[in-house]
Amino acid sequence: MRIFVDCDPGIDDALALAYLAARPDIEITGVGSVFGNNSVDITTDNALRLMELYGRPSVPVARGAQRPLVQPPSFAESVHGANGLGGVETPAPQGTFFHESAAELLVRSARSAPGEIDVLALGPLTNLALALGLEPRLPKLVRRVVVMGGAVRAPGNVTPWAEANIDNDPEAAEVVFAAGFDLTLVALDVTMRTTASAAWLDELKAIEGDRARMTSAFLDCYVDWYTGVFGTRQCAMHDPLAAAVLLDPDLVTAAVDVPIRVELKGEYTRGQTIADLRPNADAFADRPGVRLATEVNGEVFFARMLDALR
Ligand code: BDR
Ligand code: CA
Repeated sequence: MRIFVDCDPGIDDALALAYLAARPDIEITGVGSVFGNNSVDITTDNALRLMELYGRPSVPVARGAQRPLVQPPSFAESVHGANGLGGVETPAPQGTFFHESAAELLVRSARSAPGEIDVLALGPLTNLALALGLEPRLPKLVRRVVVMGGAVRAPGNVTPWAEANIDNDPEAAEVVFAAGFDLTLVALDVTMRTTASAAWLDELKAIEGDRARMTSAFLDCYVDWYTGVFGTRQCAMHDPLAAAVLLDPDLVTAAVDVPIRVELKGEYTRGQTIADLRPNADAFADRPGVRLATEVNGEVFFARMLDALR
């Protein structure tokens, strides 16, 4: 399986990269960085650090968009820390970022292996929208796309209705949902119900070795923030769950052929992901449907996540 990862690392992005990197049968063809959890300077540097930490130093890391298509950027330092990795110092990267942008690298990879590359999108969808501008045939050139983003039948996390990755660039998300990708959406609907428990976090802490030790240290800051949300020591596992779904679609139950639109105008609802879920749905008939994850086998996912870090 060949995967291009587009991400804004970010603590949960780090866990997703760890999950993929631990599988020797997975080729990571490239990592694109994007602004989001932090500035693109920081997320690019983190992507380089993480690929080295998780044993994939030769994967090209391409710097992506530094800002959304339309609105000004905003970052999530309160969740991920000022350095995006919970304030944990990881070894400085030996390598540097690739000479092409994330969008260019994605397009070139897809053109060179039509129908073979899967895309895992873990940040704002700006790079994917820019890639579609460079290559409108992209939906036919990549095999499928799994997006962590949105909140369809769940509350948002940055506003009452909007999830961070979509809210960070609603126009880009709208372009991507309209493009006709074979797309699975792993939204807050499932990620907020797939939380790492205190016992699981302790199990991770007990694993020896740099990868697990640092990953557990990243999570300390993230868990502190989520403890404020949930009231007990636990955290959501957004991005690694999307990675796990890409590797094993049967990990989730999904509603199929769900058309999604992004609210671009609402005073209180900008960034909301709206599906027409009525039995006689006809509102978005002109829009390609996505696969919307609705239930997760959390037990299997958490066991696999620990295995990846062992
Ligand atoms: C998403 O937003 C980011 O902060 C996380 O890394 C994740 O991709 C969750 O809403
Ligand atoms: Ca992310």
